[in-house]
Amino acid sequence: MQRKQIFKLGFCSVFLVGLLTFFMLDMQNLLVFRKPKGSIQLSKTESDSESIKNETLSNQDQKILRHLLLTQEYPWEPNATEVLQYRAKLRECCNASFHLVLTKQNTRLGSNITCDGENATVPVKADLISLLPERSPFLDYRYRNCAVVGNGGILRDSCCGEEIDQADLVIRFNMPSMNFPEDVGTKTSLVTINPSILMERYQWLENRRKPFAEALRSYGDSLFLLPAFSFKSGEELAYRALYTMEDFGLLRQAFYLNPQYLSNLSSYWKKKGFQPERLSSGFFFVNVALEFCQHITLYGFWPFSLDLDDQPIPHHYYDNKFPKEGVHKMHTEFSHYLHMYSQDVLRLRLGNCQ
Ligand SMILES: *[C@@H]1O[C@H](CO)[C@@H](O)[C@H](O)[C@H]1NC(C)=O
Ligand SMILES: *[C@@H]1O[C@H](CO)[C@@H](O)[C@H](O)[C@H]1NC(C)=O
Ligand SMILES: *[C@@H]1O[C@H](CO)[C@@H](O)[C@H](O)[C@H]1NC(C)=O
Ligand SMILES: *[C@@H]1O[C@H](CO)[C@@H](O)[C@H](O)[C@H]1NC(C)=O
Ligand SMILES: *[C@@H]1O[C@H](CO)[C@@H](O)[C@H](O)[C@H]1NC(C)=O
Ligand SMILES: *[C@@H]1O[C@H](CO)[C@@H](O)[C@H](O)[C@H]1NC(C)=O
Repeated sequence: MQRKQIFKLGFCSVFLVGLLTFFMLDMQNLLVFRKPKGSIQLSKTESDSESIKNETLSNQDQKILRHLLLTQEYPWEPNATEVLQYRAKLRECCNASFHLVLTKQNTRLGSNITCDGENATVPVKADLISLLPERSPFLDYRYRNCAVVGNGGILRDSCCGEEIDQADLVIRFNMPSMNFPEDVGTKTSLVTINPSILMERYQWLENRRKPFAEALRSYGDSLFLLPAFSFKSGEELAYRALYTMEDFGLLRQAFYLNPQYLSNLSSYWKKKGFQPERLSSGFFFVNVALEFCQHITLYGFWPFSLDLDDQPIPHHYYDNKFPKEGVHKMHTEFSHYLHMYSQDVLRLRLGNCQ
């Protein structure tokens, strides 16, 4: 019974807290973030912008994108004033340094954890407390250069690996393949692990657990972040994952994402008019980076099935598996990134890095 429940959760949580799932086919999700200020005609000569599936982007977004593509090769510097403003607001609402992960400091024995994916609570027992670190590893986290690496097919043959490895902090999602070092680099500082991966790739950790531990080792001394308490039924698998890590000497690197942080961040964006069923992990961690980093570059964020030259690209840089249903609004998230780029708050890397 329990297992069946978790299985159901599996299907949801593939999309829930997680994956960088780019929904190219989800055309009704094409909400426009900002009303276009004016109608911009794309002339035939501007072939770069013509090649974008422009029915999915507002005119304003197309204009930003065109600018972005024209400036890809130039050095980019963030606007410090704008970055500070984002950081101040996000610290006020969400405070990732302290609240991003569950710690003994922010999780009290006998209290309840409120799930962010459903109206449910998980009681905080001694078993759970014993798995938590004393304090957040992110207190006083300050980075100059951060790379947030989405899993989009646009990264394939991008030659961005060297550039990504130069960042001080490299964030990746859902245990992605590291078999493309030239395109995605080798360095990882933070990597998320969705329940769906544990269920599908590692058979719920019910059989051999060594393949999971070995896969984790390919991320070196990266921290592992598990969005484990978004749903009550994820509890059992969450314990199993950390017990496995403990057995293989990896507990020091393992952390549960704090559902309270996730729901505060969702409320923050809801107040700004953006309210998808779930924010994607990519979007969550761009917001985390905004609190931690001075100079943010996004790679592999491109929610379209064609690349800049109109060539079909796989869904992920390592496979072409599509999500089964969509709760995220990847196009709207992309529109937010474009907006942030237009304010010089972050840089979006598209196409080739060399
Ligand atoms: C893109 O938009 C322009 C005008 O907004 C239109 O003329 C053109 O046909 C569109 N291109 C595609 C590929 O949809
Ligand atoms: C940075 O952003 C602020 C606020 O939007 C703006 O007034 C300022 O001109 C920008 N600075 C640069 C160098 O673009
Ligand atoms: C984050 O939360 C902790 C604990 O409540 C607090 O000490 C710290 O000052 C907060 N940081 C910010 C930037 O609000
Ligand atoms: C979430 O927001 C509430 C209300 O603003 C605040 O009291 C709480 O500390 C925040 N929690 C986290 C984890 O940021
Ligand atoms: C935690 O939740 C349980 C069950 O919903 C409830 O009985 C208990 O009073 C709650 N504890 C606290 C500290 O809120
Ligand atoms: C959540 O569930 C509790 C009882 O299980 C109920 O009293 C409460 O109204 C629910 N809240 C929402 C927002 O659905």
